Amino acid sequence: MKKKIIAANFKMNKTNRDIEEYFNTFVNNMNEFKGKGLFENIGLNSEAVFATPCTSLCESYKIIKPYGDFIKLSAQDIYFEKNGAYTGEISIDMIKDCGCEYAIVGHSERRRIFNETDETIAKKMSAVYSSEGVTPILCVGENKEVREKDMQYDFVKKQLKTDLEPLKAKSGKVYSLIIAYEPVWAIGTDLPIRPEDGDKMHRFIYDYVRSNYEVDELRIIYGGSVKESNIKELMDEPYINGVLVGGASLDPSVFLNIVRLSNA
Ligand code: PGA
Repeated sequence: MKKKIIAANFKMNKTNRDIEEYFNTFVNNMNEFKGKGLFENIGLNSEAVFATPCTSLCESYKIIKPYGDFIKLSAQDIYFEKNGAYTGEISIDMIKDCGCEYAIVGHSERRRIFNETDETIAKKMSAVYSSEGVTPILCVGENKEVREKDMQYDFVKKQLKTDLEPLKAKSGKVYSLIIAYEPVWAIGTDLPIRPEDGDKMHRFIYDYVRSNYEVDELRIIYGGSVKESNIKELMDEPYINGVLVGGASLDPSVFLNIVRLSNA
């Protein structure tokens, strides 16, 4: 069975000390839920993935390691070169060293604020797949202008076509790919997508990827103003295999509740 991915993107928030407190609360609450029988099978059916800042990945790993079947780590970004004179960047080997099994690639904030192009994102995807053991969480999604013109399907298809180009060059199947559909107009705005519209786009992405690339395990997750109040209706849609949560993931009790409700 495909495990659901309930991912937290901390963005540029939290010091090491904050993160230690965060995980202590998260794990205590999780054990309490378990004690009350409120957490049955959740660990079997889903993974809670944390994209902490890179300064905290190794520290985070030390704390979450005992819960490693259920709690996983992700980098928020990686650079495509293996090593060298690239001031400020981190490589895939470096994040693997800190216990990461996932890496977010092409988040809309990287695209918009740091001018990351689809060509750069394709190089990052290629780097991830040349190194074993890390699954990319590739982010795509249209902005408000595109949605208003009803051009979102063409837009997302164009992003995917370039971003996934390295999959074509790869001989044999790609084991695992996660695509996060994150419409830019829904991120941090309190304006989530309507679940049925999200499902429609997820289905479109699913069909596009399945008919053009060889991927064993494909999961399509949704991001943009996910909260305790809307997680259940989103997860009820058949093509929504999980979520990527920004703002609402910063409180450990809220995020754990999102994990719990995603399985309810
Ligand atoms: P949000 O962010 O949940 O705060 O809308 C989601 C994201 O940027 O991944």
